[in-house]
Amino acid sequence: MTAAEAVGTHADLPPLTLADEQMLRAGHRLVELVVARLSRPGGGPAHVPRSRAELEHLLAEPVPEHGEDLVGLLERLAGSVLTAGMRSDHPRCFAFVPSAGTFPAVLADALNAAFLSLPGAWLVGSGPTQIELVTVSWLCELLGLAPGSGGLFVTGGSEANLTALTVARDTRLRGDSRGARAYCSSQAHPSVAKALHILGFGRHQLVALEPDDGFRLAPDVLARRVRADRAAGLRPFLVVATAGTTGTGAVDPMRPIADLCRREGLWLHADGALGAAARITDRGRAALDGLELADSLTVDPHKWLFQPYDLGCVLLRRPSLLRDSFRLSRHYLDTGYLTASESRDDEVNLSDHGLQQSRGLRALKLWLSLKTFGASAFREAVERGMRLADHAADRIADDPELECVTAPSLGVLTFRYRPAGLGPGPVLDTLQGRVSEVVVARGDAMVLPTTVRGERVLRLCTINPRSSAADVDSVLGAVVDAGRRLTGPRTPDPRESLTWLRQPAPADR
Ligand SMILES: Cc1ncc(COP(=O)(O)O)c(C=O)c1O
Repeated sequence: MTAAEAVGTHADLPPLTLADEQMLRAGHRLVELVVARLSRPGGGPAHVPRSRAELEHLLAEPVPEHGEDLVGLLERLAGSVLTAGMRSDHPRCFAFVPSAGTFPAVLADALNAAFLSLPGAWLVGSGPTQIELVTVSWLCELLGLAPGSGGLFVTGGSEANLTALTVARDTRLRGDSRGARAYCSSQAHPSVAKALHILGFGRHQLVALEPDDGFRLAPDVLARRVRADRAAGLRPFLVVATAGTTGTGAVDPMRPIADLCRREGLWLHADGALGAAARITDRGRAALDGLELADSLTVDPHKWLFQPYDLGCVLLRRPSLLRDSFRLSRHYLDTGYLTASESRDDEVNLSDHGLQQSRGLRALKLWLSLKTFGASAFREAVERGMRLADHAADRIADDPELECVTAPSLGVLTFRYRPAGLGPGPVLDTLQGRVSEVVVARGDAMVLPTTVRGERVLRLCTINPRSSAADVDSVLGAVVDAGRRLTGPRTPDPRESLTWLRQPAPADR
């Protein structure tokens, strides 16, 4: 058989190709499944617990040598596989930083896959690149950043932090990281420490300072430490301020920290993965005053701009610095085939601006969502998340069995169930974990514990625009209910053994 005979004439379908009717049938069913999912976010449980053994049973199989019906596969995935775990867009899911998603974003991802959108080199993906450039400039404008700011869409907040810190290192240390020191508060996200680790810094080179009473990095403490380190011969080069800590939503004071960084010649990176999006509202702009002064900023549209994963963004006051760190010619090896795609004149090769060479058009999700709904709808949705946190705080203040621990900040607040007569201590701490377990086991809400000043508390992040005041009330009611059932008719004695709290409550399991 000749090689031409072996590949066939294409009178039949080529490999890995479906007939039009098959694609249309599967596509219609997929849209039905998507609409059913998105139109009833509160229709099912907020959490579907599945053990590893159950999922192995469901999915472990040999490599499928022969194909099967695509519609059946889509139904199986939507029915029992993708639903396992937490439902982030559930209106009573207040855990972590829930993402809500939008229908235009779903279509954007499908379009990208169909068109194999590749905003890496202009030659390959000029249209996709221009969409990304426009979306970045919209984001800078919406956040009120300085003219000339720009950046890149990346996988999420962790990669945005890594990208920004790479530029900070290259700009300030110029290839010699001996004695270098970076600063943040102990409330910063672990992705900051991870980024420095990837960049080759030792853990001792990240100084994590204790925050003030409001969980903010204190400028005077920072200034003293920077001066002391300099006096000791060390080389301070970077401050990471957090614009909305994950635990309590605290905002490091940007303006005084920016002043200090300017005086001391330090790079200021603002990690706004959780909170920066609030800048699109007046209230958020006031809470995040001075954010525009940062040299670099992390924003995570897959959090408070309601996009599906993966969508993070790194923005810089001087975006050309990205090219200085990441352009291919700086890291050139003998790969002549890439010279064909070098950019000319005003063409932009976004693969020169970050880690990835082949990169998807993540920006399209946000572009299509913004064009479909308009920025005003986004503003209203972000406002709503902050108002909902205020509502939760009011309800907690009205309830003698609940106690607010940290006030709402950027849609995050912490509180605890505290029956009369039970003071802080290990019993109260254990009780919070148990309350959360009981509420989560009921299935229709997600409230998880965290630690604040060494004490266990419950945390709400209320940024889902499909959550209502009634959802907040219902979850707080469930917390009180669980607390009462766990503590029973008596008030627990802090001196007694904790074992009673560790027993499963009778009707929980
Ligand atoms: C403040 C902060 N920074 C960084 C991250 C990491 O972002 P991602 O999960 O998108 O990598 C998070 C995630 O919650 C965060 O809250």
